[in-house]
Amino acid sequence: MVGGIVARLPTDINFVENCRSEPVARPQPQPVMSNLLQKQIEYYRARAPEYDDWFYRRDRYDQGEAHTRQWRREIRQVRDQLHRVTDLGHILELAPGTGIWTAELIQIGERVSALDASPEMIAINRAKLGSERVDYQLVDLFRYQPARQYDMVFFGFWLSHVPADKLPRFLETVHDALKPGGRLFLVDSRALDLAKNRTGTANLGADLQRRALKDGRQFDIVKVYYEPAELTETLREHGFDIEVEETENFFIYADGRKRA
Ligand SMILES: C[S@@+](CC[C@H](N)C(=O)[O-])C[C@H]1O[C@@H](n2cnc3c(N)ncnc32)[C@H](O)[C@@H]1O
Repeated sequence: MVGGIVARLPTDINFVENCRSEPVARPQPQPVMSNLLQKQIEYYRARAPEYDDWFYRRDRYDQGEAHTRQWRREIRQVRDQLHRVTDLGHILELAPGTGIWTAELIQIGERVSALDASPEMIAINRAKLGSERVDYQLVDLFRYQPARQYDMVFFGFWLSHVPADKLPRFLETVHDALKPGGRLFLVDSRALDLAKNRTGTANLGADLQRRALKDGRQFDIVKVYYEPAELTETLREHGFDIEVEETENFFIYADGRKRA
């Protein structure tokens, strides 16, 4: 079981059970409040114009030349892995944001369908790429059911925003969205030492972070970090033949296929 809000809620009531002979109702795991997921969308809508500062290590994410060089080296490692398979047909990109990875995906596939809940993100992505081979849909991924199957599903820095109690359903959706043998690729963040950064991020406890925008507005969001072994196991349990790797400092990524 991956670490998550639900997984880490105390559910042990043995003490009560040991004192009574009649059955005791166990507390049900509490679903993450949909309010939090709504706030997460609002956060990314508001963050859209400044989002790329994070990826390109600009402004408050600038930690000096050596850091940026290493960050780029590790991004190249992930990018090179992504480009190992080309000539793909139709790719589904979940939560594409400003298009950092959409730009890569149109190099390895014929078409990309990009689904995001933020119109602001989609507008930036569309303006940057200007490609007729990308179509955009405004979609809440927690309500999404694919209407067809794709040759590849990709998501960058999205898995960590899926709360633990929604992960099985999300992975089933990804499975449904892929043709048998279709490729699954994801990339996400490794846990960071927040003491070193000035980016307005604070851990609030299990799988929750408080994020501040440049103007000081604060939002609480889901952030789940994975270890390669547990993520490999979870993805394999959900029907994927997949390898999960980490880069030296910053990223975790997975590349594999839906079991045929
Ligand atoms: C961390 S960004 C990742 C963007 C992009 N994939 C990248 O790697 O740069 C997370 C993205 O998830 C989108 N998002 C947040 N909640 C969502 C939801 N419920 N359904 C669909 N997209 C959502 C945000 O709008 C944002 O574009």
